[in-house]
Amino acid sequence: MGSSNLPAAAILRAIVLSLYSFFIFPDLVVAKHTGITRHYKFNIVMQNVTRLCQTKSIVTVNGKIPGPRIIAREGDRLLIKVVNLVQYNVTLHWHGVRQRRSGWADGPAYITQCPIQTGQTYLYNFTVTGQRGTLFWHAHISWLRVTLYGSFVILPKKNASYPFPQPHKEVPIIFGEWWKADTETIINQATQTGGAPNVSDAFTINGLPGPLYNCSAKDTFKLKVEPGKTYLLRLINAALNDQLFFSIANHSLTVVETDAVYVKPFKSHIVLITPGQTTNVLLEAKATPPNATFLMAARPYATGPAAFDNTTTSGILEYEKPSVSNSKNKKHPLLKPSLPAFNDTTFSMKFSQKIRSLATAKFPAKVPKKIDRRFFFTVGLGTLPCSQNQTCQGPNNNRVAASINNVSFVQPNVALLQAHFFNQSKGVYTTDFPANPPFKFNYTGTPPSNIMATTGTKVVVLPFNTNVELVLQDTTIILAESHPLHLHGFNFFVVGQGFGNFNSSKDPAKFNLVDPAERNTVGVPSGGWVAIRFLADNPGVWFMHCHLEVHTSWGLKMAWVVMDGIRHNQKLPPPPSDLPKC
Ligand code: C2O
Ligand code: CU
Repeated sequence: MGSSNLPAAAILRAIVLSLYSFFIFPDLVVAKHTGITRHYKFNIVMQNVTRLCQTKSIVTVNGKIPGPRIIAREGDRLLIKVVNLVQYNVTLHWHGVRQRRSGWADGPAYITQCPIQTGQTYLYNFTVTGQRGTLFWHAHISWLRVTLYGSFVILPKKNASYPFPQPHKEVPIIFGEWWKADTETIINQATQTGGAPNVSDAFTINGLPGPLYNCSAKDTFKLKVEPGKTYLLRLINAALNDQLFFSIANHSLTVVETDAVYVKPFKSHIVLITPGQTTNVLLEAKATPPNATFLMAARPYATGPAAFDNTTTSGILEYEKPSVSNSKNKKHPLLKPSLPAFNDTTFSMKFSQKIRSLATAKFPAKVPKKIDRRFFFTVGLGTLPCSQNQTCQGPNNNRVAASINNVSFVQPNVALLQAHFFNQSKGVYTTDFPANPPFKFNYTGTPPSNIMATTGTKVVVLPFNTNVELVLQDTTIILAESHPLHLHGFNFFVVGQGFGNFNSSKDPAKFNLVDPAERNTVGVPSGGWVAIRFLADNPGVWFMHCHLEVHTSWGLKMAWVVMDGIRHNQKLPPPPSDLPKC
């Protein structure tokens, strides 16, 4: 077959080419060859689980709560096969994974994909590049993430180390939220009546409520430590609707990473973590085993107008016995941590301001300096009219709603990403999401008399590589409240925050462009504002929403459409063939 010269020439050309690309793009070549492929199989199945003396059937991955832990190394490719064996539509989201040019694997229902229907499967296929640390995965449809969640750990590349002392052990600590009743029924009913859904009955640590709840002493997470050793706790707030304070009695914690980005280490007895955030802390066990055990506890930081679950979840920190001689079965006292008041917004602001990027040569903070587009979004609650001949259970017999720039987002019936990719946006979404509030008022003062929101499926379109500055302003319509805003597809820098109304002539001068926190979820201060910056270098459709699921249900969400760049590696590839259909 043909000349025998040809293959040799081709091989030579390939060698020359690969050498060439090695010298021109050494990083690229290395990145391509360092990672391995890791396979996971997630069966979505029902499982009977008993908590707080009551048994119910819940949706799980592989029958477990929390679901299986995903472990990868920076640079690895993940193939996660999801098989839906329950009666609900399901999607999964890999919260905080940048999904560079792999938006089809991001997961929010009707944003990047149609749901996986009963009996169907979908292979989530993506590579984790340029990230290492703690993230998590969760369902991204309706309220199913209440039980469909688990940790997602990205270890540094082989031979790379942490920028802090190597811990003796690493322990995921996932906070969850538990309802005795069926949560799909709860949110469906609330949507019908226009009122607020029932609050939860408990919070959990790694799926367990702990001894402060009825009949839960046996359902308690226990952490055994050896004296003198350091432990890395990977804290994850997977709760549905509540920010949480966390503390361990008589131990201070050193925060070293948030949202899978290393931070300048700082000590704190108490950590505040919003739904959607992750925080790695070092726990130093005492050098000599104390004659006590220690409670670790979490309970809400809550500022809103609505009722909230004011209970406390707890686990136990125990010291391994050094030898047989010591304290034979002597009952040690249990020491309890003290946590801030539920509405301690001062603590919240102070804590958030302590979080700073490492900003070193190895881990630089690439803060956008020249801004191409500025946006000012109000976030908060409001109302929508009740449908005729119905009385709704929201304020003034209307429906309670939530909005960004007064637009309460309406979920489309097909995925926005598909509509965008195939140029079929007509009738699905419009590109007129307002860059500024439709009317100005004193956002943190007396609310205007008309607090009706509008509805729509609106997006902002951004050219590839747009440098974006976005100010998120809380409103006191109904009441001030801290909203944990989460952005898909990007990390952003938290360049400024404050109370009251953002002042565009005074506040930008105080922005931190040197070492601001880099994250994927930020709490908009209650009755205040936060300014974030990000580079829109990832083509696709990216959801942004409050990570309090109840607010997302009420419409506090929108999407960014980031266009392709001109180069081949700046374009979103076509969808995989098994992408679910609506
Ligand atoms: Cu963790 Cu869009 O969510
Ligand atoms: Cu919110």
